[in-house]
Amino acid sequence: MTFHTAALPAATLSGQGTRLDVQPDLVAAEGFPEAAASDIGEAEVDMHGVKTRGEGSEGASTSRGFGDKGGKSNPGALRFRERIMIDRVFEELGLDKLSAQVGGIGKKVRHHVNPLRAEFQVKTPPPVWADVFADPSLPLHVDIGCAQGRFVLTLAKRSEGATNFLGLEIRSQLVERANRWSAGLELRNAHFLVANATISLDSILATYPGPLTYVTILCPDPHFKNRVKNRRVVQPSLVEAICQKLVPGGKVFVQSDVLEVADDMKYQIQAAGGTWLSLAGEHARTDQCTPQGWLLESPLGVPTERETFAVANGESIYRALFVRNEREFRCIGDLEKDAEGQKSQVV
Ligand SMILES: C[S@@+](CC[C@H](N)C(=O)[O-])C[C@H]1O[C@@H](n2cnc3c(N)ncnc32)[C@H](O)[C@@H]1O
Repeated sequence: MTFHTAALPAATLSGQGTRLDVQPDLVAAEGFPEAAASDIGEAEVDMHGVKTRGEGSEGASTSRGFGDKGGKSNPGALRFRERIMIDRVFEELGLDKLSAQVGGIGKKVRHHVNPLRAEFQVKTPPPVWADVFADPSLPLHVDIGCAQGRFVLTLAKRSEGATNFLGLEIRSQLVERANRWSAGLELRNAHFLVANATISLDSILATYPGPLTYVTILCPDPHFKNRVKNRRVVQPSLVEAICQKLVPGGKVFVQSDVLEVADDMKYQIQAAGGTWLSLAGEHARTDQCTPQGWLLESPLGVPTERETFAVANGESIYRALFVRNEREFRCIGDLEKDAEGQKSQVV
């Protein structure tokens, strides 16, 4: 497969603070490996518009995040350009050098799964931490819905062994390859688990010996229609599990390219976790926020795959950062009982 860089326009990506400058002469499109071109995960599957209807897709081919946007005149070229941009963002990992050793993700990867299906209702047990991290006492960063995992691998590489990174992803093939990438890169501080994070976060983290210091939930599947909003990953059970394990001063960073989804994550976090989590101080600074209060920049300095694709298409990214306070965690049921007890004392 041969692509000509001349067909790829120069692109400056910006999304309320994210800037990625991609020049076609930097893009080694000529002779791009065929295996890599077909080796695409969910975010790229979306961007490549391979399937926007059918099982698992909710028939959602809209301008709000699923399906092809702006590539109608020459969809193949545009999608290819976007995929190259994403590859460029993660170039520092050098994954192209590992492709023969690591292989692809196999042919049958669902583009979206329904996390409410019976097969996803089984809690994932924790791994033997000493088998997956060189030092399991290190601070832990969990990325929920990590897809291909390159965001996690980049953070892990940059941290130089100071923090452990755990990617949770419901689609097993992506996890398998992400772990092969991690092994190929000899990263002993990055690991990936197959999990329905909404129901499994508490069981996975129950035995982690170190402190949970960071959780990211970035561009989760939007599940637009009212009847399927209960498939969204951020539900009260997930927020409670985060609040229970996150150490004081720990952070939760969420973002979406869909305003309604970002609003909903913020609402869910404040409704179920407002006792323990507050918006970070940056949200009070007009130079760091949009007028609507969304952070202009990611605090982590690494864009995700979906974010790169969205920004390339001129979409905004809505970001919010929460900080854990020192209040002891009590599950919602216990808090309600406490409140009832206080009322009866007053009476
Ligand atoms: C739109 S992708 C975004 C991936 C990545 N965070 C990014 O920003 O590029 C959302 C990912 O979350 C995964 N996912 C959806 N529901 C999940 C759940 N309940 N638990 C774990 N992963 C989930 C999907 O399979 C998909 O890979």
